Amino acid sequence: MKLGRSKSGSEDQRDSADNAADPTYGARHIAIIMDGNGRWAKRKHLPRAMGHKKGVEAVRQIVRDAGEMGVEALTLYAFSSENWNRPEDEVSDLMGLLRQYIQSDLNEFLENGVRLKVIGNYQALAPDIVSMIDDALRKTASNKKMTVAVALNYGAQDELVRVTQKLAQSVSDGDIKADQITNEHISQRLDTSGLPPLDLLIRTSGELRLSNFLLWQSAYSELYFTDTLWPDFDRKELENALKSFGERDRRYGGR
Ligand code: IPE
Ligand code: IPE
Ligand code: MG
Repeated sequence: MKLGRSKSGSEDQRDSADNAADPTYGARHIAIIMDGNGRWAKRKHLPRAMGHKKGVEAVRQIVRDAGEMGVEALTLYAFSSENWNRPEDEVSDLMGLLRQYIQSDLNEFLENGVRLKVIGNYQALAPDIVSMIDDALRKTASNKKMTVAVALNYGAQDELVRVTQKLAQSVSDGDIKADQITNEHISQRLDTSGLPPLDLLIRTSGELRLSNFLLWQSAYSELYFTDTLWPDFDRKELENALKSFGERDRRYGGR
């Protein structure tokens, strides 16, 4: 499979949101709250696990599509720090699918120059998953076409608590003065550090909330909500979201 334009040398073209030939409309970093697997299954009178399985297929396809369209970074909310509150069998189904996904898709990441990043406290997952992730992170580390950041055991409040702990430690070590802490100090310590600013945040399934996702990073992101359930989200849906993004007037508080 051939992916879109490479990052190097095209930064100024990327910055132009008016470039109609650019399928991303200048969106460098897109994040998706992939919601609605359970309702998708329910509508089809299938077990929830089938919804999650179809959800993984949608992930696989959207990673390909985003790469082809030239998206630089795609952040996917796969398992929140609050999803542990689900029944044990559902959590275990989700972890099983995660294992399968890493195993089956690592090669495609390598073939397509996709770098894997994980945000969230993934070290708290089962030890075999942690080592599979570490292996995939290592193998894809130098890939340059696109970064796929998967949010696992991620919660934005947890992320900000961890950032605060690191900064408090730096202050008590005498490396930074408390009154000299800036936005930069915080951004650099977020799990998303190194990714471009978040341009577009999409949520599927009609829920109108952020559910503890990327609270700091979404300060000036454009938001896009669709009633489509995640397993039905496809390239056309992504194109619609990007088209809507292209029509937005981003003022950042200015005029
Ligand atoms: C999203 O689908 C997947 C995860 C949260 C892991 P849901 O499982 O939340 O599906 P609904 O919201 O119950 O339909
Ligand atoms: C958000 O969906 C988390 C993921 C998509 C992984 P949820 O289904 O967990 O969110 P709530 O419970 O409806 O807020
Ligand atoms: Mg849900």
